[in-house]
Amino acid sequence: MIENNVKNGMRVEKGLRHIAFIMDGNGRWAKKRGMPRTLGHKEGVKTFESIANYCAEIGLEAVTVYAFSTENWKRPKDEVNALMGLVEQYLDDFSKKVNEMSVELHMIGDMTVFPLSLQEKIAKVEKLSLGKPCKLCVAFNYGGRDEIVHACNALIAQGKQHVTAEDLCAALYTADIPDPDLIVRTGGEMRLSNFLLWQAAYSEFYATDKLWPDMKPEDVDAAIEAFYKRSRRFGGI
Ligand code: FPP
Repeated sequence: MIENNVKNGMRVEKGLRHIAFIMDGNGRWAKKRGMPRTLGHKEGVKTFESIANYCAEIGLEAVTVYAFSTENWKRPKDEVNALMGLVEQYLDDFSKKVNEMSVELHMIGDMTVFPLSLQEKIAKVEKLSLGKPCKLCVAFNYGGRDEIVHACNALIAQGKQHVTAEDLCAALYTADIPDPDLIVRTGGEMRLSNFLLWQAAYSEFYATDKLWPDMKPEDVDAAIEAFYKRSRRFGGI
C-alpha cells in the first residue's frame, strides 16, 4: 500500500513528478443521464479542477490535461463552442482566484489560431500564476504531431542545420515541464490519441473504465499505486 494520500499527510514519492490525464467519457456520462454532451463537458471541468488541486496537494510537480485536440475541431459546432467557452470561463475564474490557487498555469498547443483577445487572456493568466509549486498544463488545440512539426519549424527558423534531442525538447510546448511519468486515460479506451507523443516515450500508461466526470481523488490514488508496482527500465534491464 503506497501511503501517498493527503488524508494521512503523506506526499508522492520520488519517481513520480508528473501525471497527464486524457479526460475521456464526458459525452457518455451525459448520455447516460439523458443530458446533452455539453453538460458532460461542464461536469468534466468540475472534475478537472478537483483532480488538478488534488495532484498539487499530494506534491506532484506537474499535471497535464487534454482539453481540446487539433482533431476536436471535427466535432459539431455547438460542442466546439461549448468547449471553447468552458476554457475561457476557466481562465476568467482562475484570474479572479489566482491567489488561492497552488498551480502555475501553462496552456500548451497552438494558440495562434485563437482571437488575439483570448491569446492575451491566456498570457495574462499564465503570468499571474508564475511561481506556484505545481505546473498545470492544459493542452488546448494540442496535437502531438503538430507540436513536433511546430518545434522543427522553430528550429529551422533559428537557422539550425543539425538538431539534437535536447534541441527538440527545448522547442516543444512542454520545454520546462518534466516528461509525464504516468498517463491516465479514463473512459476505457487504450490509445494515446495524439497526446504528448514525444514526451510519452517512457511514460507508464494506466486506463480506467471510469468516465471522466466520475473520476475522484481515490481513483488517482489507485493509478499511483499501480504506477509504483511497475518496473521502469527505460530500455535497460
Ligand atoms: C473527451 O471525452 C473529452 C474531450 C474531448 C474534452 C475534455 C474537456 C473538458 C473536460 C473540459 C476542458 C476544460 C478545461 C477548463 C480544462 P468525450 O466527450 O469525447 O467522451 P465520449 O467518448 O464519452 O464521447
